Amino acid sequence: MNNFTFYSPTYFVFGKGTENEAGQYVRRFGGNKVLIHYGGGSVVRSGLLDRVKASLEKENINYVELGGVLPNPRSGLVYTGIDLCKKEGVDFILAVGGGSAIDSAKAIAAGVKYEGDFWDFYEGKSVTEALKVATVLTIAAAGSEGSGDSVITKEDGMLKRGASGEALRPVFSILNPELTQTLPAYQTAAGATDIMAHVFERYFTNTKEVEITDRLCEAVLQTMVKEVPRVIADANNYEARANIMWAGMVAHNNLVGVGRDQDWASHGIEHELSALYDVAHGAGLAVIFPAWMTFVMKQDVNRFAQIAVRLWGCSMNFANPEETAKEGITRLKQFLTSIGMPITFEELGAKEEDIPKMAEKIGLGDNGTMGGFVKLTTKDVEQIYRLAL
Ligand code: NZQ
Ligand code: ZN
Repeated sequence: MNNFTFYSPTYFVFGKGTENEAGQYVRRFGGNKVLIHYGGGSVVRSGLLDRVKASLEKENINYVELGGVLPNPRSGLVYTGIDLCKKEGVDFILAVGGGSAIDSAKAIAAGVKYEGDFWDFYEGKSVTEALKVATVLTIAAAGSEGSGDSVITKEDGMLKRGASGEALRPVFSILNPELTQTLPAYQTAAGATDIMAHVFERYFTNTKEVEITDRLCEAVLQTMVKEVPRVIADANNYEARANIMWAGMVAHNNLVGVGRDQDWASHGIEHELSALYDVAHGAGLAVIFPAWMTFVMKQDVNRFAQIAVRLWGCSMNFANPEETAKEGITRLKQFLTSIGMPITFEELGAKEEDIPKMAEKIGLGDNGTMGGFVKLTTKDVEQIYRLAL
């Protein structure tokens, strides 16, 4: 196991009706003037926004509002938010929504405290200072409610990039699984795929002797395989929604990833798809992950066979572990199809002729490659896109 530090200071408030306590927690965490930041309207239609506002009013906390965050949030609204916070003297941002509203809130929070262009953080500068951010989560997916990450798309060139820093971890996050019951099945499944992908990015590692995090990863994946079909069959299944919602947090606050090298190539490869076609991030991952797995499997066939046995219940072919490994990838594809996810470019609406353009645009690390498990070149990335055709 590698050396690590782990600090996950977010205060989680989980369960039915907990959004009504938002005001109380803003007060407890020192917010005096709040920006409520939200998306395209689901929180208005569901009445959630009114309930959150009422809870702030009950605590006599002043607020301003900024809605309109798009899925795959854009830099334009971040600049608007930074200006608004400065003008109004905002000291606390409450994101009400999914990963997109939360990530946009984090970008604004970092930008308000920074003299330069906030985009610097999305080109590698780490975030050390930000306004306090908190969340009322409405979709189990990105894990931004517990992570120190934010992903924003710059309109100029449609560049989708991430920023990180402990200062971006929300001070509190309210997770009420009931709020996710209004999600369309496709969004539920895309979110679930993202959660599973966050585990896979950590599971495929070259670090040896990581039994505890292997087993934690497998527990999250097993939970998803059990619970997701239940919510697809019955959108109002509270208990299944509750398990998925907590799995989404656990998958991405790095509890299951500490002490091991991680991969993260598939996320980078997917970000080009969601930047170019504006598709749901989770749906893009459903297309990319099996292709990436097929491409890198030979790096450690035994690890792929291990997950095939432990997650999908495949029987181990000791004479030919590669067969077991491949069966695991097939079972993943079948699972994704069964919950309504695309697994090919065609099903996603992506085009073969765009592949070289996407591969060229990809954000490579300093050594000119991407990925911790297998170091991929631009040519490799192109091949992975082709495997997804
Ligand atoms: O905008 P509204 O009207 O709210 O509609 C949203 C949006 O259309 C809708 N929705 C959300 N909750 C709902 C609902 N509709 C009905 N009922 C509800 N309860 O669902 C759509 C998707 O919302 P979004 O916030 O975009 O989803 P998600 O949480 O999947 O976030 C995706 C973004 O997060 C980034 C992705 O790249 C993408 O930009 N990620 C952020 C990460 C992080 N910060 O740590 C890590 C992830 O890997 C990911 O990259
Ligand atoms: Zn993701």
